[in-house]
Amino acid sequence: MTDNGPILVTGAAGQLGGIGRTVTGLLLERGLPVRAMVRREDDRAAALRTAGAEVVVGDLLEPVDVYRVVSGCRRVYFGMSVSAGYLEATLTMAAVAREVGVNALVNMSQMTVSQMSIQNTTPSRQQRQHWLSEQALAWSSLPVVTIRPTMFLESFFPLAGPTVRDRSRIELPFGRGKTSPVAAADVARVVAAVLADPGPHLGRIYELTGPRSQDMQEVAREFSDALNREVTYSDIPPEEWERELQRAGLPEHLTKHLVTMGELHRAGRYDRLADGVERVTGRAAMSVRDFVTLHADEFGSRRS
Ligand SMILES: NC(=O)c1ccc[n+]([C@@H]2O[C@H](COP(=O)([O-])OP(=O)(O)OC[C@H]3O[C@@H](n4cnc5c(N)ncnc54)[C@H](OP(=O)(O)O)[C@@H]3O)[C@@H](O)[C@H]2O)c1
Repeated sequence: MTDNGPILVTGAAGQLGGIGRTVTGLLLERGLPVRAMVRREDDRAAALRTAGAEVVVGDLLEPVDVYRVVSGCRRVYFGMSVSAGYLEATLTMAAVAREVGVNALVNMSQMTVSQMSIQNTTPSRQQRQHWLSEQALAWSSLPVVTIRPTMFLESFFPLAGPTVRDRSRIELPFGRGKTSPVAAADVARVVAAVLADPGPHLGRIYELTGPRSQDMQEVAREFSDALNREVTYSDIPPEEWERELQRAGLPEHLTKHLVTMGELHRAGRYDRLADGVERVTGRAAMSVRDFVTLHADEFGSRRS
């Protein structure tokens, strides 16, 4: 089977972690042809086209669309927004990938799956769907590479950006639990490295974390160092957080997932360390301090 043709990157217009968008850029930088799948034609699609990607529009929940976008591709990155239809989209992709004959399918999952089993699940439907997706992909016999990142550092933009900007405080219901968030940019570097040369990675599972596991007081100190002003952590009641997320009008699926993430943090389940970023890319994962320094403006800028 020849391995020419473009590399398919789904969710390429993404803005939360933006893994698909960053992977597209990294692969183009390497001189590799990329087919970037987006949900609609808009400025983000135009930017991908300008960058040199072949842009295709489609819905990952529509088998005909998925068949059209995968056809002609041998390497695929599959990832999409946290959403209720995740398992259906994964299975649609798996069915099409088998039909088309894909040589490498890089599947975005979550690190929590490492701790899950039939007997030990979580209340998050998203995490359950990732667990089931991994099971189904294993049954599919497809050549899969599984990416299991812990919480993205970028999640701090929506979850802590406003309170760090307004009152220099991270307000989250993470208790005294430790956490080791990883930069989506590092996750994207791993995905791009795998797609560029999938052979050695097929069948592997990569767990990705940042370089340190620490509680939120220590995370707040890294924010303080980066912003040159005191940032503190306030452990807010989980019910208050849930009400806030509901008030913000997030979809129920996402709200429930975030609430579970808070509960698991309180229970110490995000206290993890893994070296996947360095192992695959040869470069250490970004620290909280370096991440906040890089994005100081989003957190209300650094005091001179
Ligand atoms: N955030 C975290 O802390 C974290 C941690 C570990 C793992 N993950 C995993 O990372 C993945 C999300 O990655 P990300 O943050 O890079 O995503 P993202 O930035 O939110 O981008 C996801 C993209 O998927 C597209 N999309 C959604 N539904 C679609 C559909 N039906 N058809 C076609 N495209 C669709 C969205 O299109 P539109 O922009 O047009 O809506 C969006 O551009 C999820 O699997 C999540 O579980 C996240």
